Amino acid sequence: MQNAPAASPPTAHGHGPAQPLSARRSGPISGRMRAPGDKSISHRALIMGLLATGRTHIEGLLEGDDVLRTAAAARAFGAHVERLGPGRWQVDGAGLGTLLQPLEPLDFGNAGTGTRLLMGVAGGHGLTATFDGDASLRKRPMRRIIDPLILMGAEVLSEAEGGRCPVVLRGTPDPAPIEYRTPVPSAQLKSAILLAGLNSPGRTTVIETEASRDHTEKMLAFFGARITVTPDGEHGRKIVLEGRPNLRARDVVVPADPSSAAFALVAALIVPGSDLVIEGMIMNPLRIGLLTTLLEMGADITEIERRIEGGEDVADLQVRTSRLRGVDVPAARAPAMIDEYPVLAVAAAFAEGETRMRGLSELRVKESDRLAAVAAGLDAAGVTNRIEGDDLIVTGSGKVAGGGKVATHLDHRIAMSFLVMGLASQAPMTIDDSSMIATSFPTFQPEMARLGAAFSGDAS
Ligand code: S3P
Repeated sequence: MQNAPAASPPTAHGHGPAQPLSARRSGPISGRMRAPGDKSISHRALIMGLLATGRTHIEGLLEGDDVLRTAAAARAFGAHVERLGPGRWQVDGAGLGTLLQPLEPLDFGNAGTGTRLLMGVAGGHGLTATFDGDASLRKRPMRRIIDPLILMGAEVLSEAEGGRCPVVLRGTPDPAPIEYRTPVPSAQLKSAILLAGLNSPGRTTVIETEASRDHTEKMLAFFGARITVTPDGEHGRKIVLEGRPNLRARDVVVPADPSSAAFALVAALIVPGSDLVIEGMIMNPLRIGLLTTLLEMGADITEIERRIEGGEDVADLQVRTSRLRGVDVPAARAPAMIDEYPVLAVAAAFAEGETRMRGLSELRVKESDRLAAVAAGLDAAGVTNRIEGDDLIVTGSGKVAGGGKVATHLDHRIAMSFLVMGLASQAPMTIDDSSMIATSFPTFQPEMARLGAAFSGDAS
């Protein structure tokens, strides 16, 4: 094993100065927009490029901070990663089984996905790596990833209290084949096990009771791995991966991120007079829980063209301002819209009647405790809401007073959700820090402004 030059940015556990931002009642949100590249697929494209032999080309890569951290980590593991132009990247793989040991701690910033997926990769290789990130990442549970990796033969040399980052992981060059039933419906957990299992001499099986997003499975198959996915129980899946495949470099096209498109979609629904076309929205059933829910709420959304992009079903959607009504969102839908609850809560605030979102325990361990952050943001805006167990209940009256200041807790989706609220509330909404938006949607502010959104700098 050799050392590779470290490529991570210097370790920083916070970020630059906070950048407050306000959004105020806007004219219609209209025109056409395409969200940036899907974050989940962007991370995976770089990781598969690292593990394959040969040169992988990626088009439409999300150039958000989270993904750039994964690119830096891929370099530290021995890939040659180069940016050719906007969204165009190439990766010369280090190759499965022949990764290098990073020289320095890997700083993943705010990115849980990069951290957890690469923990899986490292856990299945004979190397030691340190995983760290910002104050938000340092609060997130890593035990769920570490536990199966230990079963496969990896070791934790050190970790912060409660199984948190910084984590020093010593991987195994011969990961044991395991069968693992995931205790939480997490695509990050499933992916970490599969990525560790790639270098196993045997067969790795992951069973999930509730199916989570399947981009890892699709991309593994695309790069040449033998993987089968079969239904298991009412909502679950069983995934079986044969170890030590010959992974060949491929060209990857990254479709637009439905979790980013969600902000423009909800803005168009709640701002009067809006008529927006959202291009290339991923229609993967494991990502469109928000769309299903909004349609149930009475949203005027029409699919105008469906096609395949980058191996995913995508569609252009026409969205017009709608009178929304409250609905009951079943817990089983959570994995298909796990990142969309904050912006759904905003839509619910503008709806008439009660919206109950069930089974949100996983929201407590995202970039922030999103359940608490959403409830506090709704309080600040004068929206009636309550938490009962793991359910969030929002009582809308068709309009929102607004005027509050929202604490974002280093969470990009809390930031964007409450800015969207401000575009239609009576008084502006202010967020304490917009800088984290760059982790997933660096062009959010100019892009939304182009469509008609009114923002202004610190109005606190
Ligand atoms: C992701 C999975 C989800 C999601 C995250 C991205 C992924 O996390 O919240 O933003 O790319 O696999 P969990 O798998 O922990 O639910």
